[in-house]
Amino acid sequence: MTDLNTPWWSDAVFYQAYPRSFRDSDGDGVGDLDGVTAELDYLDDLGIDAIWLNPVMVSPMADHGYDVADPRDVDPLFGGIGALHRLIEAAHARGIKITMDLVPNHTSSQHVWFREALAAGAGSVQRARYIFRDGSGPHGQHPPNNWVSVFGGPAWTRVVEPDGNVGQWYLHLFDPEQPDLNWENPEIFADLEKTLRFWLDLGVDGFRIDVAHGMAKPAGLPDMRNPDLPMLTLDDDDPRFNHDGVHEIHRFIRRVLNDYPNAVTIGEIWVFDNEDFAKYLRPDELHLGFNFRLVRAKFDAVEVREAIENSLAAAELAGSPATWTLSNHDVEREVSRYGGGAAGLARANAMAMVMLALPGIVFVYNGEELGLPNVDLPDEVLQDPTWERSGHEERGRDGCRVPMPWDGGTPPFGFSTNPDTWLPIPAEWAALTVDKQRADEDSTLAFFRRAIHLRKQTAQFSGTDITWQDTDDEALVFRTGGGLTCALNTGSVAVALPAGEVLLSSAPLADGELPPNTAVWLI
Ligand code: NOJ
Repeated sequence: MTDLNTPWWSDAVFYQAYPRSFRDSDGDGVGDLDGVTAELDYLDDLGIDAIWLNPVMVSPMADHGYDVADPRDVDPLFGGIGALHRLIEAAHARGIKITMDLVPNHTSSQHVWFREALAAGAGSVQRARYIFRDGSGPHGQHPPNNWVSVFGGPAWTRVVEPDGNVGQWYLHLFDPEQPDLNWENPEIFADLEKTLRFWLDLGVDGFRIDVAHGMAKPAGLPDMRNPDLPMLTLDDDDPRFNHDGVHEIHRFIRRVLNDYPNAVTIGEIWVFDNEDFAKYLRPDELHLGFNFRLVRAKFDAVEVREAIENSLAAAELAGSPATWTLSNHDVEREVSRYGGGAAGLARANAMAMVMLALPGIVFVYNGEELGLPNVDLPDEVLQDPTWERSGHEERGRDGCRVPMPWDGGTPPFGFSTNPDTWLPIPAEWAALTVDKQRADEDSTLAFFRRAIHLRKQTAQFSGTDITWQDTDDEALVFRTGGGLTCALNTGSVAVALPAGEVLLSSAPLADGELPPNTAVWLI
C-alpha cells in the first residue's frame, strides 16, 4: 500500500509503550528500555510498525518523565543511553521505527536552568528562561493571575529569593516541579534544536510532542474565564493553550526535521476547533496531530460517527492523514470507559475494529491488545501528582498505567522479578497474561493480532476517505475508498449485516445479524 513517495507513517500502527509499565529487565520493579527490546518479537508478531516511547530522558520522575532534568540523556532508571542504542538497533533490524516523547513546554525544577534561575534572583537572564512574575496584591502575596494547574491548584508557585525572603512567582501549567519555559527567549529555541538533532542523529525516527498546543503564552497573561475545567474538557478559549505564537515554534521544529526526511512529528493537540487544529498541520508545521475525539466519544453510534466525521474533516482541512486513538497513559482505559466487565471488553474490541478500519494512523496503548481494564488502586499506592494536587479529590491516571502481565499465575506476572512493582498488578490479571492469551485463539490478543495483520495485508484497507451508509441511531456502517465495509452495533438488539463477505468480527455472528456491542469487517 505504501509506495516510495508515501511516508512510512501514512498508514502506520503505532504501539505506545509506557516504559515504566511495559517490562522490567533489571528487577527494580520499574519497566525499562531493555524490557522493550526483550519483547520486540512480541511487538513484531502483533504487526505494529512503530513504537512511541513515553519520555525516557533524565528526570526526578515527579510526573514520570514529563519533568525532564536533562533533555539529552536517558535516565538510568530506564537503562541509560546504551539501552536506547540497543533498542533502536534491534527495532530497526525488524523494520520497527522508534519515536520518542519530547517535552518542550516545561522542564523539571531540577534542570540546571531552573536551579540557576532560583539562585540568580528577579530580573536576571537566568530567570528569563522561565516565566517568573511578581505577585499581585500589595505585598505580591497573590499569584499574578488566576490560571490553574492542569493537575489542580494554582498554576503559580512563590519562591524564596536568594536573600531568604519570599518573592516572585513562577508559572507551571502542570506540577510545581514542571516550570514552564519562556518561549519568547531565543535561547530556548537554540537548546531545543540541539535536543532534536541529538536524538535524530542517534537514530530515532521522530517525536511525539508533549503539550504541542502549549508553549506560547499570550502577552500580559490574561485571566482564565473558567478556571474550573478539568483536563479533558479544556475549552478552546483557554488562554493557557493554543496561543497563536505556538505556530512559530512548530515551524522552527519543522525546519530542523526537514534535515531528517524520514522522521515524523506527532503533536499532542487538545484543540477541538477544526480550523484551529488544522493550523498545527500546515505543510511547514507538524506532520501529524493526535486527535482525541474518539477518546471523548461514548460507546454510541451517533457520537462515534460524529467523532470520526470531525476528525476526518480536520485532517482534510489540514491536508494531513487522520490519527486515531482510543486510549493512552492519561485517560481511563476504554474497557472501563465503555462500562467494564464483559460488555466493556466487547465494546472496546468493537471500537478497535472501527479504529483499525479508518484511513490514517492508529495508536494502540500497551495493554489495549490484552483487553486490560482500569484498576481501582488503593490510596496509599497512588503516585500521579494529580492525587496530591487536587487535595485527594481526583485519583489521577495511575489506574491506566498498571504494569503489563506477561506470564505465570501470580503478580508480578513476569513483568519483573521483583514482587514490589511500582504499581501493584491485580491478582485477577492471571487470566489476562500474554502467555495465556497467546495460547488461546479466541483471546483479545489473538483478535488484535488478526485485525492488525488484516489491516496491513488486505487491499481494501486503502483510500483516504470513507462513505457512510444509512442506518438507525444505534449502528454505523462505513465503506473505505478501497472497498472495505465496517459496521458497528452500539444498540441493544441485533441488526442486519451489510452485504459482503465477512473478513473479521469482534464477536461471533449469528443468523446473518450483527449482535449488540460488536463490529464486523466485510469485503
Ligand atoms: C501530557 C502528557 O501526556 C501527560 O502525561 C503529562 O502529565 C503532561 N502532558 C505534562 O507534561
